[in-house]
Amino acid sequence: MIELKSISVAFESGKALLKDVDLAVRRGETFVIIGSSGIGKSVLLKVTASLIKPNSGQVLIDGKDINSISRIEKAETLQKMGMLFQKNALFDSFTVADNLRFPLRERTSLSEQEISEKVKLFLQYVGLSHAENLFPDEISGGMQKRVGIARALILNPQIILYDDPTAGLDPITSKLIIELIIKLNKEFGTTVMAITNDMNRAFQMADRIGLIVGNTLFVTGSVEETKNHNDQRVQKFIHGQGMQDA
Ligand SMILES: Nc1ncnc2c1ncn2[C@@H]1O[C@H](COP(=O)(O)OP(=O)(O)OP(=O)(O)O)[C@@H](O)[C@H]1O
Ligand SMILES: [Mg+2]
Repeated sequence: MIELKSISVAFESGKALLKDVDLAVRRGETFVIIGSSGIGKSVLLKVTASLIKPNSGQVLIDGKDINSISRIEKAETLQKMGMLFQKNALFDSFTVADNLRFPLRERTSLSEQEISEKVKLFLQYVGLSHAENLFPDEISGGMQKRVGIARALILNPQIILYDDPTAGLDPITSKLIIELIIKLNKEFGTTVMAITNDMNRAFQMADRIGLIVGNTLFVTGSVEETKNHNDQRVQKFIHGQGMQDA
C-alpha cells in the first residue's frame, strides 16, 4: 500500500538527514516508526504524505509514484490519505465541529445536512459529542488529539499517518488514545504508519516496527521480534525509554 524506495533527504545544510530509506507497508498493517528526537521521523512521514519532496527516491502509494504522476492523479491519491500532525494543526478560530466540517466542505460534495450528520458520527467515535461547540484552546491536549484523529479519519482515508499521537499526554490518556486508534483502525481497515517515542505505545499498536538510526530506517520486525532483537542499537533504544508504565 505504501512503498518507500531509496528515499534520501538533505536540507540546506547539505548533510543527509535520511539516506536510502526503504519500506513497504502492507494493506491494513500498522507500521510504527521509532527513533530519537530530531532523527527524521516526522520528515519521513511528511515525505510519505508528499508534504516534503525527497532529494531522491520514490514514494509509491497503491503502486503510483506520487512525485511523477499528473496533478489530478496525485490529488486523487492524496485523498486516500489522512494525517494527524505532531502539533494537531487544528484551526484555533474554528469550533471543534467546524474543524471537522472543514475538510468535508473543501473536499467533498456532501450537503450541509450530510456534513452535520457525519461530523456528529465522528465526534461520537472519538467521544467528543459534548465538546462540539468548544474552541481548541478550551479543551485539553488529549481532547485536541482526539479532534485531530477524527479530522484525519473523516474523509475515510485508506491510509492514515499519525505523527506522535500521544505526545505530551499522560500515560493513561496515551493508552486510551492508542486504544481508540486501534479500534478505529479495525473498524475502517486502514493502513497505518505511526510515529511514537513511547515504546509502550509502539508495542501496544504495532504490527511491525522500524527504528531510524544513523540516517536510515532499520525494520526490526514484529513486537516480539523487536523486543528480542539482538542488535545493540535496538536494545539500547527500547531500554533507554520509560518501560515502567505499561
Ligand atoms: N522543512 C525543513 N527544513 C529544514 N530542516 C528541517 C525541515 N523539517 C525538518 N527539518 C530538520 O530535520 C531534522 C529532523 O526533524 P524531524 O521533525 O523529522 O525530527 P523527529 O524525528 O520527528 O523528532 P521529534 O521526535 O522531536 O519529533 C531536524 O533537525 C529538523 O530541524
Ligand atoms: Mg517529529
